[in-house]
Amino acid sequence: MKFFIDTANLAQIKEAQDMGVLDGVTTNPSLMAKEGIKGQSNILKHYVDICNLVTGDVSAEVIATDYEGMIKEGEALADLHERIVVKIPMIKDGIKAIKYFTEKGIKTNCTLVFSAGQALLAAKAGATYMSPFIGRLDDVSTDGLRLIEDIRQIYDNYGFETQILAASVRHPMHIIECARIGADVATCPLSAITALLKHPLTDSGLAQFLADAKK
Ligand code: E4P
Repeated sequence: MKFFIDTANLAQIKEAQDMGVLDGVTTNPSLMAKEGIKGQSNILKHYVDICNLVTGDVSAEVIATDYEGMIKEGEALADLHERIVVKIPMIKDGIKAIKYFTEKGIKTNCTLVFSAGQALLAAKAGATYMSPFIGRLDDVSTDGLRLIEDIRQIYDNYGFETQILAASVRHPMHIIECARIGADVATCPLSAITALLKHPLTDSGLAQFLADAKK
């Protein structure tokens, strides 16, 4: 399973990249706002800065919600860097835009997916990635991981190549369960990735080895 980091924070992206386990980055308008990135030229420059820090795909989201607007914005984003993936919302014009970019050989990430039917449409349009938001489903008492399982089965039934990018990941068990079920990618906050390192028996075992090494 690929690990993407879900942030626009350059220091966190660099930390994950330096660990050697990072396969890509996802951003969204809320994550960009959290870093205080304002104005079109600053936003575009920040995407380039992210691309220059990593070796994998970087999702950059369009703001337009009409077909023509999404095409114009998406083409400008794709022109920024070869690693940019155009992130497009799961709406009717978004599906049309994904189809357009797929035919042009531009990678896409269909975002805001909350049902298996939406995932099926994204795959039929040829999306490179499709992002079910598992944490936000859990927040409304709906099993986000069960949705990943359902989509995995549907995609495998028909050999769809769209990659299941588990998003809205909140904690390490989400990552482990996504890997067990067969998600292609999990995009995670840095805290969830580093939490995978932790085990008290590792800490106590290492302390013992270091103490014994001094004997
Ligand atoms: C990623 O593509 C999504 O934008 C992100 O994972 C959403 O996460 P959140 O539900 O924590 O905002």
